[in-house]
Amino acid sequence: MVCLGNICRSPLAEGILKSKLFRANVFIDSAGTGAYHIAEKPDNRSIAVAKINGIDITDQRARKFLVEDFDEFDLIYVMDQANYRDVTEMARNKEDLAKVKMILNEVFPNENLDVPDPYLGGDYGFKNVYKMLDEACDLIAKKINPDG
Ligand code: 4NP
Repeated sequence: MVCLGNICRSPLAEGILKSKLFRANVFIDSAGTGAYHIAEKPDNRSIAVAKINGIDITDQRARKFLVEDFDEFDLIYVMDQANYRDVTEMARNKEDLAKVKMILNEVFPNENLDVPDPYLGGDYGFKNVYKMLDEACDLIAKKINPDG
């Protein structure tokens, strides 16, 4: 799960998908394309909206997306078109490139819709982001582990 700061959207996406796939043998992580918040905890507003929904993301720490992540992961979900550009620019070959997906394309195929960056907004933005990611992660979880 990749966003810009790795403190608002992608930590939520990581926590939500982990909660839906806790029985499956999959490794889920998140990272940011920017280095502004390395080693920080998720934004308090992301922690709060996760908590209301029964998910604890307080142990997460922000890190930067690395080219080695293309070797570690089969699927790389980005939150918006800027993330898509930044991550795909790091791809070394067509296999790397094929791993990168816009997360809302799971819900709205081929529309390339952004999960809006909630960083400079209020709490409502975080609730909205949570809802979008929950819906997308439901579909991702069903694809990865159809038996639930
Ligand atoms: P995120 O939100 O990409 O969802 O983690 C942001 C967090 C911080 C900044 C931008 C976006 N920032 O510019 O510091």
